[in-house]
Amino acid sequence: MITLTIDGKKVKAAESATLLDIARKMSIPIPALCYHPDLTPYGSCRLCTVEVRDKGRESRLVTACNYPAREGIEVRTRSRRVLRARRLLVELLLARCPQVPVIQELARRLGVEKSRFRTENRENTCVLCGLCVRVCREIIGAEAIGFSNRGISRRVGAPFGIDTENCLACGACEYVCPTGTMEMEIDRTRKIKHSATGTVRSCKYVRLGLLDFMICSNGYECWRCEVDQAMEDRFHTHPALAFRPAEQRRAFRLHGFTFLPDRSYSAWHVWAKPMGRLIRLGLDDLASTFAARADRIDLPGAGDSLERNGPLVRIVVGKRELTIPSPLGGKVSAVNHDLKEDPMLVWKAPYHRGWLVMVEPGPSGDLSGLRSGASAAPWFDGQASRMAVFLIRKTGKTTAREEGSSQNSLFQVGPLVSLTSGCHWEEVEEILFSG
Ligand code: FES
Repeated sequence: MITLTIDGKKVKAAESATLLDIARKMSIPIPALCYHPDLTPYGSCRLCTVEVRDKGRESRLVTACNYPAREGIEVRTRSRRVLRARRLLVELLLARCPQVPVIQELARRLGVEKSRFRTENRENTCVLCGLCVRVCREIIGAEAIGFSNRGISRRVGAPFGIDTENCLACGACEYVCPTGTMEMEIDRTRKIKHSATGTVRSCKYVRLGLLDFMICSNGYECWRCEVDQAMEDRFHTHPALAFRPAEQRRAFRLHGFTFLPDRSYSAWHVWAKPMGRLIRLGLDDLASTFAARADRIDLPGAGDSLERNGPLVRIVVGKRELTIPSPLGGKVSAVNHDLKEDPMLVWKAPYHRGWLVMVEPGPSGDLSGLRSGASAAPWFDGQASRMAVFLIRKTGKTTAREEGSSQNSLFQVGPLVSLTSGCHWEEVEEILFSG
């Protein structure tokens, strides 16, 4: 904890807290247009300007939303200099979009009646606060919109201005937009409904990955959905901000192995991920250690049939080989050809570029026997722990997967230690596949 002074009052705060956080806890009003407590501060509107005096230095204006509290500083939130700066900023905003209610309200509170600057007659009411861009990237994980250009041409939009498949029409951007510029949900949802993939991307909660399945009596029109309304009433925010789906999909490390929560896992450490009507299969981080020094990875060909528990992939290292079975049945619709050139991709990027095949599921193609969500993490944790203990017992050390991560190297598995340091392939196999 550190001590600082805000408007003459001494206050204790955590070192990581921002001046805006502390001021809000003290009920000191500071205007903020581009700030949202769930998003990384961006500091673009500068309306949260405050005056800070650091020991023995000249005071200066800083943005409170991203300025960290420091020991001994004096902060003034309503000095003449601060109010003059805020009024100037709001005049600029007023000139940019005079018809936007939130700007008019800010101007009223700061005592600004009209702007001294030439008023723009713009249809676009975006103030480039970046809230929509940040929510799409940080909370949804879709990155469907971003900034383009710079200076007076700077704008928010889809990459290349082309409608992007990444957009889930979740409406989070519309929810956080302070000026009402973002109004895309209805339009986008209609497009999704009528697109080739629309039938499998219907409900907003399914698209966000928060529900597995949903039949909707409102024709998947979220703006008429009582569930959606109930969610907002209950959490007082957009459901995406309450559940933070991007965080739920983010990879994390368990005993040095990477676990991805958005995959389903078979007992043989094959992961499955539905992609439209197809299912992508790959080896998880534990099983992929077998492929680290593979001479060859044998996969079925496109058009071949896969059987549940029938062979999926054969890993050949010297004279040894290991066959890992498929968790589901169906027809192989595509094979990852990159593996022919670089079989180590299975180990280098097991959840992404190292995928194995795409399968069109047949009658035995459901994922019901696989672990996913809440049940997958403890299982993976147990398996990773056994593997780590085994490797340390056998080798005394393991090799870091990535350069420069030496502090954790004890728990990180490197290129097939079982083959290079005297452990037996069968023992590792037993550890991995018996649980
Ligand atoms: Fe701090 Fe916008 S709220 S710069």
